[in-house]
Amino acid sequence: MPRPLPAPRGSTRGARTATRTVLRTTVAAAAAALVVGAAVAIPAQAASTLKEAATAAGKDIGFALDPNRLSESAYKNIADTEFTLVVAENAMKWDATEPSQNSFSYGAGDQVASYAASTGKELYGHTLVWHSQLPGWVNNLSGTALQSAMTNHVTNVANHFEGKVTSWDVVNEAFADGGGRRQDSPFQQKLGDGYIETAFRAARAADPTAQLCINDYNVESVNAKSTSMYNLVKDFKARGVPIDCVGFQAHLIVGQVPGDLRQNLQRFADLGVDVRITELDIRMQTPSDATKLATQAADYKKVVQACLQVTRCQGVTVWGITDKYSWVPDTFPGQGAALVWDNSYAKKPAHAAVLEAFGATPTPTPTTPNPTPTTPNPTPTTPTPTPTNPPGAGCQVTYGVNQWNTGFTANVSVKNTSSSAVNGWALTFTFPSGQTVTQAWSSTVTQSGAQVTLRNAAWNGSIPAGGSTQLGFNGSHTGTNATPTGFALNGTPCSVA
Ligand code: G3I
Repeated sequence: MPRPLPAPRGSTRGARTATRTVLRTTVAAAAAALVVGAAVAIPAQAASTLKEAATAAGKDIGFALDPNRLSESAYKNIADTEFTLVVAENAMKWDATEPSQNSFSYGAGDQVASYAASTGKELYGHTLVWHSQLPGWVNNLSGTALQSAMTNHVTNVANHFEGKVTSWDVVNEAFADGGGRRQDSPFQQKLGDGYIETAFRAARAADPTAQLCINDYNVESVNAKSTSMYNLVKDFKARGVPIDCVGFQAHLIVGQVPGDLRQNLQRFADLGVDVRITELDIRMQTPSDATKLATQAADYKKVVQACLQVTRCQGVTVWGITDKYSWVPDTFPGQGAALVWDNSYAKKPAHAAVLEAFGATPTPTPTTPNPTPTTPNPTPTTPTPTPTNPPGAGCQVTYGVNQWNTGFTANVSVKNTSSSAVNGWALTFTFPSGQTVTQAWSSTVTQSGAQVTLRNAAWNGSIPAGGSTQLGFNGSHTGTNATPTGFALNGTPCSVA
């Protein structure tokens, strides 16, 4: 894929190419536009999973994955069914990917990437440069040796996952709680303030299609730390240093969701970057009780609502599935119960609260096991029928694009405007200016010349009457990126909103 050279510091070319136009789906915009006070008024749709609810609201719902846990069926079942996005909890960090200098090991990271691909989830990259979970050899370097090692690490890891990872936490936790730069980072200590810019430029050069984010904790409110990060983003945007997004980890404490979370997210979004809640968990003193769990549920709801109220907020990622494997008790002894599923994988009140926050009406998951069939199901002898539209079917497509140099991300919302559900779909369209899809999520893609077909993933084949589904893809273009034409759902032409 042709890739642009990073622009030299301060060049106007850099400033131009770093300027991005972001059009979120109309679903997300409508969600934001319908905000009344602190509440979000979205037409309620029945949903039993976070994935259904978030998708209907036009946002991502992600989770941090430990691939070793996928052998546990309860873990895998929740992972498979509840989320649209996955991030490696540890598998893509420096100690996992480059344990010895220039010797890269991608086994665990590849497992996470394969899981994302096989389940149709977006893959978020965490993290390229961080002071923690660094192998000892990095701490022994300084000067140009350290700078080269950092650039080499960013380049190799971003290259390896190019076309799979849609966004990278390029630099993690660069700021001190009181504001200013974190001093206990070898990169900060030995390379000085410029290391962040160096890392972002290396990441853009290595993977021009990935969104590049800076990520941190205790930055959820307007405070000295978040303002230091804000000033860095503002400076990068002004000088054309590549930066596309900001992650707010949100490792929170029950009852302490910052009241200015939405306002803080919005001030960053107003700089021209996407924002995202990247590592949400809300801890409490253990043991939990009904009162604490109710407060926690209300807190989860507040965080999701804040994201919904900011058009450029891409979504919310929780930092794990079950309290059983959360990092919290190890780091904060006596605290825990921070996630949405308890130690036994039972949904906590936070689950219904998140559904409601996304505008869904929670529907109970069946609690009785499926009856055992008395006669074996016959082995299907006929192939799966080609999806068809119901009589009188119609569809409406909203196509939003976020583009730069020769790359772009497209967010597509497909609305079933007919009076019957669509079961199994293929969305087809034509690229007018030689674009190529490099990676799709929430769908599988085939492209033949200018003709593109996006078919439903296993989990989103059904679009209820009046309902919508969201999908997206990354692509490349040669300088012109005209909107596709001829959208059709199962062969029926769609209107374009
Ligand atoms: O892999 C080793 C294993 O071989 C060894 O036997 C075991 C003994 O303790 O340790 C294992 O490594 C642990 C690793 O998680 C993988 O499980 C480390 O000790 C442990 O410190 C590490 O904790 C991770 C922590 O980052 C490290 O700082 C947590 O799982 C992970 O949830 C946490 O995630 C961070 C984000 O990356 C950044 N933001 C904060 C967040 C929470 O701290």
